[in-house]
Amino acid sequence: MDSFEWNKIFGGVLAGLVAVLGVSITSDMMFARHLPEKPGYEVAGAEEAPAAGAAAAEAEKPAAFYLASADVAKGEAVFKKCAACHNVDPGGANGTGPALHGVVGRPIAAAAGF
Ligand code: HEC
Repeated sequence: MDSFEWNKIFGGVLAGLVAVLGVSITSDMMFARHLPEKPGYEVAGAEEAPAAGAAAAEAEKPAAFYLASADVAKGEAVFKKCAACHNVDPGGANGTGPALHGVVGRPIAAAAGF
């Protein structure tokens, strides 16, 4: 291919790009953009600071507060899925997961093999 052929190819590509630019400029002139004065959306009724404060206050309540309304039967039901891997009998053997009897207060990673 001689250089004249390349000139034709580059000329074609350039003409295409100029056409796209022309369409873009024309459409910009046809559809004016209206940016809001204040960027972002107002969410009706949302107050940021008090919501964050309430969440923090909730997290600060001691465990006893939650234990007061706790239900042992519900806990047993929830633990059924854990029992697939964990044994909770005193002196129970390890399964897929370590035996959890007496796990509260036990040093971290104390179960042999885990
Ligand atoms: C698919 C099996 C599996 C299920 C289901 C499972 N665990 Fe585990 N769990 C493990 C394994 C394995 C380990 C040990 C991880 C390690 O060695 O790092 C572990 C570790 C633990 C430990 C840390 C024990 C220690 O000695 O430090 C606790 C606590 C625990 N699981 C609680 C739970 C609870 C609560 C559930 C149910 C909500 C549950 N697990 C469900 C497999 C499971």
